[in-house]
Amino acid sequence: MKNKHVVDLTDLSHRELMDIISLANDIKAKPDDYLDVCRGKILATLFYEPSTRTQMSFQTAMLRLGGSIIGFDNPQNSSVAKGENLKDTVSVIGGYADIIAIRHPGEGTAAAAAMYSPVPVINAGDGGHLHPTQTLTDVVTLYNEMGRLDNLCIGLCGDLKNGRTVHSLIKTMSTFKKNRFVLISTPELSVPQYIKDVINASECDYTEVTSLAEAMPELDVLYMTRIQRERFTSEEEYQKQNGVFVLDKEKLRYAKKTMKILHPLPRVDEIDVEVDYDERAKYYIQTVYGMYGRMALILTMLKNDERVFAPRIMPTHPFRCSNPRCITKSEKYLPAVFTEVGGDMLLCRYCDGRNLI
Ligand code: CP
Repeated sequence: MKNKHVVDLTDLSHRELMDIISLANDIKAKPDDYLDVCRGKILATLFYEPSTRTQMSFQTAMLRLGGSIIGFDNPQNSSVAKGENLKDTVSVIGGYADIIAIRHPGEGTAAAAAMYSPVPVINAGDGGHLHPTQTLTDVVTLYNEMGRLDNLCIGLCGDLKNGRTVHSLIKTMSTFKKNRFVLISTPELSVPQYIKDVINASECDYTEVTSLAEAMPELDVLYMTRIQRERFTSEEEYQKQNGVFVLDKEKLRYAKKTMKILHPLPRVDEIDVEVDYDERAKYYIQTVYGMYGRMALILTMLKNDERVFAPRIMPTHPFRCSNPRCITKSEKYLPAVFTEVGGDMLLCRYCDGRNLI
C-alpha cells in the first residue's frame, strides 16, 4: 500500500481496494489459513465515542488473525480525562501498538492522529465526517451480493448531512464508473456540498429527492441511515427530523426483487423490524463482511514494515477552520492546513470544511 494510514477509503488505489476485497473473501473461505498471521502484533482501539460494530469487529478481526488488542472505549477511563491531548495519546500508544484504530467526535481527528503516530492509523469514524471501514464493509457486501461495484443505482436515505458512512460511501463509489446516487433526505439533512463536488468531478451523477416511496422502483441498492441524534444542537431539531423516512413492507412493494437493503447500523426506527425477514435485507450479513474486510485491511497495512513514518506535509496557514466540529477547534496546537478551491474558498484538510476568505 502506498499510503500508510487510512483516513478515508479513497486513500487506497482501486487495485489496493480490489486486492483487499479479494483477500477478505479468501479469509472468509479459508479462515484457518489466517489464524496465526498477525501473531506478536498489537492493535490499539482508541474509541472516544460509543460503538458496537466497529470496535468489536476490529478487535475480533485482530484476534482471529492471531494478534492481540489494547485500548479504551471510554476516554474518561484514560488520561484523556486528565487533559491529555490527542498528539500525546497517539505518540505514546504508537510506541506500544503496531496499528491504531481511532474513533472520535472531532471531524478530522484521524488525519490529525496520522500526523503524530509512529504506526499506521485507521479512521474508525471522525464525527459526522468519514467512516472508511464502514465503507469497506459496504463494498465487500456489494461486491458479494451484487457482483459489481459499478453501474449501480444507489439510494441513500436519512441523515445525509451528518451520516459519515454516507460521505465515505459516496466518495468511494464515485470512483467506479456510471454509479448513480439518489439522495433521499429532507432539505435540512442533505449531503454536504463537498460531497456533491466529489460526485460532480466523477463519472457518476446524482439526484436529490424527498420521497423514499417514489425513488424506490429504480434502486439497485437502498442504503438506509439513522438520524444522528448526537450531532444535533437541540432535541427539538432532532425530533423535527426523526421518523420522516421509515422503510416498511408497504414501501418495499415498489422495489425491485433484486434490490439489496444495506444499513451501517445501529438502527433506531428507520427500518421496521418486519423488513428483517425480507430476503433483500442484507444489514446483518453486512456486519460479517465487515469483520472480514477489517481482517484484510489490518493484514495489508501491517505488511508495510516501515515502522516510523514521516509526518504528512503540514504547512501552517494564518486562517483557522470555521467548522465548529473540526478537530482544530479542540486541539489548538494543530497547524491549520487548507487546499485552495477557487479564488476565495479554502477546504480544511482535516475536516473538509469550506471556508470563505
Ligand atoms: N456502523 C457503525 O459504525 O456501528 P457502531 O457505531 O456500532 O460502531
